[in-house]
Amino acid sequence: VIRERPARRSDLVGIHRLVDYYARGGILLPRTEADIRARLGRFLVLEENGQVIACVALEPYADGEAELRSVAVDPSLTGRGYGKHLIDYALTTARRRRFLRVFVVSRSPDFFLRRGFFPVPRLELSQKIERDCRRCSRAPGCNLSAAVFFLSLQPPARPPAAVLSVLRV
Ligand SMILES: CC(C)(COP(=O)(O)OP(=O)(O)OC[C@H]1O[C@@H](n2cnc3c(N)ncnc32)[C@H](O)[C@@H]1OP(=O)(O)O)[C@@H](O)C(=O)NCCC(=O)NCCS
Repeated sequence: VIRERPARRSDLVGIHRLVDYYARGGILLPRTEADIRARLGRFLVLEENGQVIACVALEPYADGEAELRSVAVDPSLTGRGYGKHLIDYALTTARRRRFLRVFVVSRSPDFFLRRGFFPVPRLELSQKIERDCRRCSRAPGCNLSAAVFFLSLQPPARPPAAVLSVLRV
């Protein structure tokens, strides 16, 4: 059984393992275990039998904006819809937390564009640039793409359970 839930202390090693795997391949930015521990409250996970199989961090910014960071699905379990499930869960959580827009900066923009994100020039993400890009050694010549999801414009990815039970689906 796959469960979606906010991360717990016991997920720390599992989250770090996933992020580290993709960071070694240059796909995700590296994060230390200490960094993940300090921001554990921002992580959401998919769990199967107590094992973290996917993770994402929902990073808050000003003006109702949030960033999806460290999006990772266990490399032995990709292509089974877990990435899709993870993003739907993150967007539902962001909506519940009253964010208005969620953006992502990624090497795989197509994955997010299929999920209803819109491509945006990275320069439009002024807060992100202020916070991270200024300090990033890879900033010159960076070829990452940005995409944004407008929570205020789109209906929930999945109706809440209460609505489903009324509709009897
Ligand atoms: C990208 C990633 C999260 C996708 O997870 P996944 O579990 O394999 O994705 P799913 O099985 O849910 O696939 C959902 C859809 O996205 C497509 N897709 C999967 N990976 C994709 C990619 N890298 N680029 C474009 N489309 C992709 C699938 O074909 C599928 O299409 P469909 O909706 O038409 O069926 C996963 O491969 C991963 O962890 N990659 C490394 C980290 C990373 O790139 N993170 C994103 C940047 S922050």
